[in-house]
Amino acid sequence: MKLDHPRYTERFGAISLHGVQRVYELDSGFSNGRPTSETIRSIGNEEISEIEKKMAIVIPIKGERLKLLEGVLSGIPHDCLTIIVSNSPRQPVDRYKLEKEALEQFNRFVGKNALILHQKDPGLSDALKEVGYNSIFGPDDIVRNGKAEGMITGMLLAKMAGKDYVGFIDADNYVPGAVNEYVKIFASGLAMSNSPYTMVRISWIYKPKVSESGLYFSKWGRVSEITNQYLNSLVSYYTGFETEVMRTGNSGEHCMSMKLAELLTYSSGFSVEPYEIVNVLEEFGGILPTENQEAMDKGIEISQVETRNPHFHEEKGDDHIKEMFFGSLGCIYHSKICPPRLREKIVEELRNRTMLEEGQEIDTLKKISPFNKIDMRQFANILHERASSLIHFV
Ligand code: GDD
Repeated sequence: MKLDHPRYTERFGAISLHGVQRVYELDSGFSNGRPTSETIRSIGNEEISEIEKKMAIVIPIKGERLKLLEGVLSGIPHDCLTIIVSNSPRQPVDRYKLEKEALEQFNRFVGKNALILHQKDPGLSDALKEVGYNSIFGPDDIVRNGKAEGMITGMLLAKMAGKDYVGFIDADNYVPGAVNEYVKIFASGLAMSNSPYTMVRISWIYKPKVSESGLYFSKWGRVSEITNQYLNSLVSYYTGFETEVMRTGNSGEHCMSMKLAELLTYSSGFSVEPYEIVNVLEEFGGILPTENQEAMDKGIEISQVETRNPHFHEEKGDDHIKEMFFGSLGCIYHSKICPPRLREKIVEELRNRTMLEEGQEIDTLKKISPFNKIDMRQFANILHERASSLIHFV
């Protein structure tokens, strides 16, 4: 893959937040020993493949169409470990069973390393309880509903499998080729990073919408433009310079090194992606004290890479958009580092959109602790013993 070196970087404490990089060539061939230019970096197929072997791709899924899941599976490079974490209904139709069968059938032909687990499996909750990881539970002592909760479960499985990198791809993507590009971008971004604490986020070139006159290739989703604006304001309040650097606040498609992933605190449900950025700023921005001096010393790198493929996915309804607004702005609003002026602006924004009434408070979001302290061996033993929905295809 051939892509830009970052042209612009916002530095915030120990964090380097790179501006969006472009892809020039999806496949730049094998390295031919020629030096790369000052501005463009070529990541050869061998290098990408080496990283893919160390990477797990987590697919969180809740009741998506199986045809879409099958397409997503086919787009993930063979050497990555595929991990499906499902929160699909089990009654009246057992959707999880259908997903498992689809993976099994796919795997019969491709022979790929893959795991599937249901988020509500009591055996998973038992394993988490035994290792003292309680912040992920609902009042019934079972893992809560929520995309973040699915992603964290996936990260634990990736760590259990010894992977160094973990990426996320939604299950409702219509274009397998785009899925493949996301993973190649993950690997290329990781290859370009100078720090072991790194994150690569996908910036979609277009998110097309169907309109009466045909397809409209819009740049932004309904929520992402606003989320980015407030994340940029948060950075600007501290630096004193306005910035537009953040373009991927809501990006469901992103990856991290396990070294970074295990240090972060996560926010529940759909606030997970913007809060990853907020938490990186809280933890490594030099504003609040941190326990993670080693990461501070090495630095945290966040890259954002624009795809060549447009992002075609299932459009969910207005209630979902409202939930995303609340999650995205709520996690900034409740951050310890959110200045009072920005809080006021967020309230104003939600009121103007008639999402918040006079006197109504913005709900606090549940947080999920870092998982670096979990005893993985104990977790793995109990999980294998008790989680009946866990299947490992090899
Ligand atoms: N395991 C699990 N558990 N998966 C879930 C859950 C859950 O409780 N809820 C949703 N998912 C899965 C969906 O099945 C899908 O694969 C993925 O998470 C994203 O959920 P969608 O409901 O499709 O959200 P979206 O497409 O509107 O939003 C996506 O894109 C946004 C950016 O445009 C999400 O990835 C957002 O997090 C992201 O900000």
